[in-house]
Amino acid sequence: MNKDLDYIFPDPPEGVDPRALDPERIPESVAIIMDGNGRGAKKRALNRLKGHKAGIEAVREAIRCASDLGVRYLTIYSFSTENWKRSTEEVTGIMNLLRSYLSNCVERASKDGLRIRVIGDRSALDADIVEMLEHAERETAKFDKLDFTIALNYGGRDELRRTMTKLAKQVQEGTLAPEAITEDVIAKHLDTADLPDPDLLIRTSGELRLSNYLIWQLAYAEFYFTDTLWPDFDKESLKEAIRYYNGRERRFGGVK
Ligand code: FPP
Repeated sequence: MNKDLDYIFPDPPEGVDPRALDPERIPESVAIIMDGNGRGAKKRALNRLKGHKAGIEAVREAIRCASDLGVRYLTIYSFSTENWKRSTEEVTGIMNLLRSYLSNCVERASKDGLRIRVIGDRSALDADIVEMLEHAERETAKFDKLDFTIALNYGGRDELRRTMTKLAKQVQEGTLAPEAITEDVIAKHLDTADLPDPDLLIRTSGELRLSNYLIWQLAYAEFYFTDTLWPDFDKESLKEAIRYYNGRERRFGGVK
């Protein structure tokens, strides 16, 4: 547990196991910023790509655990619009790891009842990756145990920019009145149109930043930060995050 966060855990009622999760308060939707792959590799004297490889194993574990615990939507920040600034070797390596993940994800997803979706701007991705993403989305659309969303070439500001362009075109064509642009209309034009807003955001590796992730959708989420590096994030880490969430009182701007 992150010791700095001790103060937010209320004392449990007598007779209640303080470590047990409240089955009534499992977050429906969890978003993760998986940070620390590079540092995880460095700690083990390995190169950064080995860290990303371990990161993918941690993603598989997170999917399994989230599904077991009853989380219905899991959204992972895989590659941001800013990540292109990394070395060509690292970017190519990450894209190849993604290829390898996608090459057998449909088979695995069908066993686990996983629906795969992708958010972000696909226009800058290699054509074979886009084809694999579309294949995975199409073939897993019928599954409903857990919706696993991969944010790929994703940036919150870029998503808002693309959404505004879509809406501006409709206004220009005369199919949408400017006054009709409600919050709901905006939400329905985001990449996440079919997904509920995250209830809980988890960021690993001790960084306390949003890094342009789901900036619209996280407006009312609970934020959980842990020092654990992403490759070390396991079932117990996820339970710890949900335990934290269990202790929070969500007011959505109101008073209770
Ligand atoms: C953060 O660690 C991780 C990334 C920027 C990208 C990792 C992407 C993958 C492993 C591909 C994901 C694929 C699927 C299937 C979801 P970091 O490199 O920023 O770590 P550091 O801050 O310690 O250097």
